[in-house]
Amino acid sequence: MYETLEDIRADIDRRLVRAAKDRKSPMHTPVVATADADLRVMVLREFDAGKRLLRFHTDLRSPKARTIGEGAPVGVLLYDKGQKIQVRCRGEGRIEHDTPAVQAAWDAGTNFARRCYLGDGPGALSDMPTSGLPDWAEGIQPTDEQVMPARDNFAILLVEVRSFDWLYLAHTGHMRAQFDGEEGRWVAP
Ligand SMILES: Cc1cc2nc3c(=O)[nH]c(=O)nc-3n(C[C@H](O)[C@H](O)[C@H](O)COP(=O)(O)O)c2cc1C
Repeated sequence: MYETLEDIRADIDRRLVRAAKDRKSPMHTPVVATADADLRVMVLREFDAGKRLLRFHTDLRSPKARTIGEGAPVGVLLYDKGQKIQVRCRGEGRIEHDTPAVQAAWDAGTNFARRCYLGDGPGALSDMPTSGLPDWAEGIQPTDEQVMPARDNFAILLVEVRSFDWLYLAHTGHMRAQFDGEEGRWVAP
């Protein structure tokens, strides 16, 4: 079934679209790398195949948001253990905070999810183990009014993918392909 570069390119798009939509997909929580050699797991929220654009949600105060800012290299690593397929994406990331896309993402969330952006910023120091949330917000679904201040901290990370690397571990022989935009080539695994 993986016979042509077109098959592989289509497979990448299908997997990324599904990874965003399906919480059970092994690719739903990829590793996102920044150029400062830091890595973290994030939930993939959307893949727009036409624009080759990945969307993640994050806290504007987080170190990665500062590192990426208005534009910086970002890598995204996804692995499906069952199907033995690794997809590596490299591209240009940017943090958005006050665009219509951010508002749409915020509006689509629940107050329970929005609550995560109410507390101390990621990495804030504490004298004791902490969730970072104010005491009153622990374990509850806040009201629209209570959650309003969290909007200031909510941001999206968009990654415009420039190149994909696809690797299939098969006992009949591994396969690997790379794509710069839509232009593909076979390479040794
Ligand atoms: C399963 C899982 C999902 C996560 N999803 C997100 C996410 O969608 N957005 C996010 O900013 N951090 C997410 N995190 C937390 C990050 O891995 C990281 O700890 C945090 O964002 C701080 O990263 P930074 O210090 O590099 O900014 C998730 C962690 C795990 C384990």
